[in-house]
Amino acid sequence: MVPALRRVLAIAFTGASLALAANFPDPAALPVRQAWPDPLQCLDGSQVTSVADWNARRKPELRELFQHYMYGRIPVAPVAPQFKVNGVYRDFLGGKGTLKVVTVSFGDPSAPTIDLMVVTPNQAKGRVPVFLGINFCGNHALSEDPRIPLAKGWLYDSCKGCKDGHATDASRGGQAVDWPIREILDRGYALASFCTSDVDPDRKEFTEGLYAWLAAKSGATTPPQPADRGTIAAWAWGAHRCVDYLVTDPDLDPKRIALVGHSRNGKTALLAAAFDERIALAIPHQAGCGGTAPNRGTVGESVQRINTAFPHWFTANFKAFNSETARLPFDQHCLVALMAPRPVLLSNAKEDQWANPSGQFEVLQAAAPVYRLLGAGGVEVAVEPEVGTLVASRLGYYVRPGKHSMTVGDWRIFMQFADAHFGEPH
Ligand code: GCU
Repeated sequence: MVPALRRVLAIAFTGASLALAANFPDPAALPVRQAWPDPLQCLDGSQVTSVADWNARRKPELRELFQHYMYGRIPVAPVAPQFKVNGVYRDFLGGKGTLKVVTVSFGDPSAPTIDLMVVTPNQAKGRVPVFLGINFCGNHALSEDPRIPLAKGWLYDSCKGCKDGHATDASRGGQAVDWPIREILDRGYALASFCTSDVDPDRKEFTEGLYAWLAAKSGATTPPQPADRGTIAAWAWGAHRCVDYLVTDPDLDPKRIALVGHSRNGKTALLAAAFDERIALAIPHQAGCGGTAPNRGTVGESVQRINTAFPHWFTANFKAFNSETARLPFDQHCLVALMAPRPVLLSNAKEDQWANPSGQFEVLQAAAPVYRLLGAGGVEVAVEPEVGTLVASRLGYYVRPGKHSMTVGDWRIFMQFADAHFGEPH
């Protein structure tokens, strides 16, 4: 990363956390340990035995370790975000819900702006719990309603109706079948959503987005290179900025915000929730390697493979672990542990072995000591449950039959899990 940009990102952090990171050894100097590091043992070997000690020492240390060796820094908002509610439509879905079309911006025309859609149930009596869903193909893909603006940025060509990397009117509703808004509203939940592309496009080549803006602000002449970026951290930043808005919306319950993402967006959901306690519950769905699957795992995608195919997702340091995952001073159970005592559901599909569902069950078990320390229980079952059985303890687990995708059936499980922890909305 270029020095000037490093400086801009650095001002966002306290002297204490920077000092911590400065003392971390080079990856090659870290000890090799095949066993997963103890989430309750600090880097200096001392053991955490109290909640106060976890909060004061180990939690900040783990946050630093994940940023330093894997994801890169999650920038803070460099300036206060501004929220513009462009439209409030009470006749959404035939009057079932109210659609709000919101723009999150930063008072600088060269900064990214995030389009956020928020749909609330009209039958609600008070403030409602909300799912913030991270989408791949634009908010407009979730519903055919033409009042939802088409995503303005680069999109995957696999998104329905996209041409030359951009949305067209034919893209509207392209993913509506996977986002059952009507049912979500009927169950008394609100749904908010934003597209990662608004924050930082998922391209190796450096073009536009959060890092381009930060680089320009810092006066850097060379932008961060693909292999030293941290796009997942940028997307997590985007989720945090959307939460900045959600906590101000009088129709939403700021204490019941659940963050949902599928696959690469699931990796983002876990990272964002682990670093922001305003997010009360997280559902990283089929997140796999770089998210909920163990880095030291031997099933499915490896660290080497993900770093090669998606170099821009992680920081340069992470590449040093390609063939030496045993040197990592954490594994992904430590990221799950950063959620404690908040509920987190690792949901998967049996045929999606690329995401290593059984390895994810081990990740949950290994995070449990931190949940127990915080009085939040462990995983309710000791062995991996049958396919189709929801384990709804705070460390939650679910595997359904089928392949890698997010379906209406998955959303029913997400709502069942949220009901168990938030209480049913009505
Ligand atoms: C690829 C990648 C996964 C990722 C997935 C997705 O399969 O290897 O790590 O989760 O894409 O985001 O759909």
